[in-house]
Amino acid sequence: MAAIPDFTRRCVIWFGRPQAQEREMLAAAGWRLRIVERDDDAGIGLRSDDLVVGLVDLRENGADLARVRRLLDAHGYLSLMAVTPAGANDDDAIGHLLDHCIETFPSPLDPRRIVQALRLLETPTSPEPRHGVEALIGDSSIMRATHAKLRKYAPVELPVLVTGETGTGKEVAARAIHELSARGHRAFVAVNCGALPASLVQSELFGHERGAFTGASQRRLGLFETASGGTVFLDEIGDLPLDAQTNLLRVLQEGTIERVGSNQPVKVDVRVLAATHVELEQAVEAGRFRRDLYYRLNVLRLPMPALRERGADIALLAQHFLDRFRAQHTTRARGFTPQALQAMATFDWPGNVRELLNRVQRAAVIAEHELISDADLELAHAAPTPRDHLGQARDQAERDALLHNLKQSQYNVSACARRMQVSRVTVYRLCRKHGVPLEGRE
Ligand SMILES: Nc1ncnc2c1ncn2[C@@H]1O[C@H](COP(=O)(O)OP(=O)(O)OP(=O)(O)O)[C@@H](O)[C@H]1O
Ligand SMILES: [Mg+2]
Repeated sequence: MAAIPDFTRRCVIWFGRPQAQEREMLAAAGWRLRIVERDDDAGIGLRSDDLVVGLVDLRENGADLARVRRLLDAHGYLSLMAVTPAGANDDDAIGHLLDHCIETFPSPLDPRRIVQALRLLETPTSPEPRHGVEALIGDSSIMRATHAKLRKYAPVELPVLVTGETGTGKEVAARAIHELSARGHRAFVAVNCGALPASLVQSELFGHERGAFTGASQRRLGLFETASGGTVFLDEIGDLPLDAQTNLLRVLQEGTIERVGSNQPVKVDVRVLAATHVELEQAVEAGRFRRDLYYRLNVLRLPMPALRERGADIALLAQHFLDRFRAQHTTRARGFTPQALQAMATFDWPGNVRELLNRVQRAAVIAEHELISDADLELAHAAPTPRDHLGQARDQAERDALLHNLKQSQYNVSACARRMQVSRVTVYRLCRKHGVPLEGRE
């Protein structure tokens, strides 16, 4: 968020009726209050350079949000918040509201929360939680392509299989898909299939009836029923036992579950997202994963790139993690030395973004200077990484292509440039780089 200029007045336009305590809190925090009740929005008394925040109070009556927005738009406003009636949290109305508001406060309202939220708006350096693809930081072409794919998948009511090495952000991506979907304001239930004891998987996911097994003293709803209307994220789907795979297939095909101890199908309305860091294809070949389920899950596939493939994003993420750390802790560190940046750029990052986060946090704790060094990151003596080999392989492929095209064009630079769809200058540069003499014959 851009820094807020030095406004002379800060105003909350309260659509509804604030209570005495709420008025006092706002006044004490330096916010003027303008109250708009019912249709009476004449003469709010705003100046053009006022900093305006709207607050819709839904405790007594609903609100005509379109009208609220019209009024606020006319004044130019910073943000819109809402106070919702008690117990309305899981209500459709809230979902609708969230499309308009950046923050909702459930009733009974603790006015301190409003003041806190307003304060956040005033301190743009404090990190705000990011939503949707924003949460997946990265500007490299590979991440931009990932964002684009994610945006396309989000509104489609089909499963998405998120794949990628450990720590590449599979869960962040799944959450972003959910948030950008029509179910975004409903539940997002994440379950790690590998962490559930095999004996409990069925009952955790699909629930059980009273007396279904020893210890089942009452009916219990499973995750699929409690997440109804929302999204279930099955992490490490490759670890799901075969019998649970059969039931999951039924969810995907028929939209129903059966609680353990019952053969009565129950309709569930959930979107399934799944993630795996192993090749599911191999599990299918080995008979550990149902092929039909695999096909169902694999319709939309979102591969998360490894961190080592993301180029300048590494530095971008490192600075982001450092800034976030600085907002919460005291540290001298504000940036990275050139050597540290170089070391991060060439490291292999087997633990991907999670490892980068951990190394940056640790470095921020121990750093003695303003710039974090490669030693602080424990990357000073990092072994040559497989990426060096990758680089070598790429160089070799480039040299092979150059030689092949030169030979095909009888060492005519213009013809070779045309074949390779590059400029003549590039052909000369490549020849110098790879030590290829232009007279021909190696
Ligand atoms: N692009 C990103 N921008 C910001 N933070 C990220 C990004 N990708 C991952 N993270 C952070 O890195 C950590 C690991 O991400 P996440 O848990 O989503 O990875 P994962 O692929 O699910 O890992 P695993 O395979 O181990 O379950 C989290 O703290 C997450 O917030
Ligand atoms: Mg994960």
